[in-house]
Amino acid sequence: MSVLSSALLRVLTLLGVVAAFLLPTTSAQASAPLRTHAAAKGKFIGTALATGPLGSETSYRTIAGTEFNQITAENAMKWESTEPSQGQFTFSGADQIVNFATQNNQQVHGHTLVWHQQTPGWVQGLGATAMRSAMQNHIAQVVGHYADNPAVVSWDVVNEVFDENGGWRSSFWYNTLGQSFVADAFRAARAADPDARLCINDYNVEGINAKSTAMYNLVSSLRQQGVPVDCVGFQSHLAIQYGFPSDMQQNMQRFAALGVQVRVTELDVRIQTPRDSSKDTTQATYYRNVVNACLAVTACAGVTIWGFTDKHSWVPDTFPNEGFALPYDANYQQKPAYTAVHDALAGGTSGDTTAPTTPGTPTVGTVTSNSAALTWSASTDTGGSGLAGYNVYREQGATDALLGQSSTASITLTGLSPSTQYQVYVRARDGAGNLSGNSALATFTTQAGPGGGGGCTATGTVQTQWSGGYVIQPVTVTNTGTSAISGWTVTFTLPAGHTLSGSWNATLTVSGQTVTAKNANYNGNLAPNAGTSFGFQVSRPSGNTQTPSTYTCA
Ligand code: XIL
Repeated sequence: MSVLSSALLRVLTLLGVVAAFLLPTTSAQASAPLRTHAAAKGKFIGTALATGPLGSETSYRTIAGTEFNQITAENAMKWESTEPSQGQFTFSGADQIVNFATQNNQQVHGHTLVWHQQTPGWVQGLGATAMRSAMQNHIAQVVGHYADNPAVVSWDVVNEVFDENGGWRSSFWYNTLGQSFVADAFRAARAADPDARLCINDYNVEGINAKSTAMYNLVSSLRQQGVPVDCVGFQSHLAIQYGFPSDMQQNMQRFAALGVQVRVTELDVRIQTPRDSSKDTTQATYYRNVVNACLAVTACAGVTIWGFTDKHSWVPDTFPNEGFALPYDANYQQKPAYTAVHDALAGGTSGDTTAPTTPGTPTVGTVTSNSAALTWSASTDTGGSGLAGYNVYREQGATDALLGQSSTASITLTGLSPSTQYQVYVRARDGAGNLSGNSALATFTTQAGPGGGGGCTATGTVQTQWSGGYVIQPVTVTNTGTSAISGWTVTFTLPAGHTLSGSWNATLTVSGQTVTAKNANYNGNLAPNAGTSFGFQVSRPSGNTQTPSTYTCA
């Protein structure tokens, strides 16, 4: 009896031990630190660190080391810290950060080599020749200091070179050296560390707008010239009162199509004081959206948050009556924003295998020659990860093309071909990536090509040329009609022997020497008098000086 019961007890204990191993592993996994989930998705989750609290606060060090697998120095690598007077390099703060990262198995993003702020007065007062050499020397020394350090993997080479309208910022760099400082800075950084990933970084470039398009054009043209730009950083200093840039994923995707890595470099989401729970909830949504955008774009390497605790944040010092921008409060307690980042990173491992319900049959609204409006009744999702949006496909046999994505139960498809019948269906998608069944089909036929009171013009400018080629940038497209247009087509003829070698902000097809440029999906809508632009590059026989002369817009 006692033998039996003790044997039974052993079995039960064993089961208990097994259960204790199996069950909590799952829940421990669910509440694992951010870096565990990020690493499982092949992304980094990072934080900016300040040297002061890193040296003096245990909670700061513990959270920084536990939760994050990537570090950016908030100030310690800036020019004023590393070369306060000419030729006098000091790396004490920068090394403190890099050593911490090394101890915690974290990668470091160097920030920032060439910027118009936090750069000593001695640099700003130099003449052009001396300023260029000072810049090249600074880059050589600072990048060189870490070139053999495996923790330091990437650099912000230039920071904030554009103004809000997409023009060049009138900084002392630009005013003294012109645009060339950017290419020179990247070349100097590549020479100092051929293995480092080199980034250009800016703010208010998260959505598609004039400034991000200027960035896009610059990166495209630098890469066409062989300048080593490997990556684009979206600072992402957001504020809930300004709304979320809902085309962030689409914007990242268009940069990715240039062949660069993208990353979120300085995420914070500030609120206007006082803090309350509804603002916390909205803020959490913004954090979740940013993480999800990065997860959805293969070329997005990860997300760096600009600090992690409201105790140490640049926001209250910079924006009057705003604050509380980070995922931990000033007492190091996790806020809803933390949970949002955590759950977004953990999404797909959360065990949600339940697809959303199938959406209703799409109803067709306004159809133009190249667009169609659709609405449908919404899906619901009960699997836990939540409804994330909808994919709209064209039924066309073995592989159905994805025509568009929407976060709501409606969409206006753009970029369609004129006089073409489309059969389309919708699938809902949840936060874990599960797709619903296909809705029933909707059928529509686009109208005949543009005309009817509309009208547009196109003019091209030669931006640069050399004996074997040229860049036309911008080709300005203007809606000269009295009603809005939702797409445009520009045609032009390449002189004999000329071949297209690249283009941006439009889709170009070549037939013989005739080139047809159609709007990209983000720049087809033009109100009356509104304009947009695209660009392209051409190779031509050496010595030939011709360029296209006439551009026709329809
Ligand atoms: C900020 C730091 O957070 C502050 O501590 C410092 O006083 C000013 O700079 N864009 C950048 C960052 O690229 O370097 C800035 O960091 C925030 C805006």
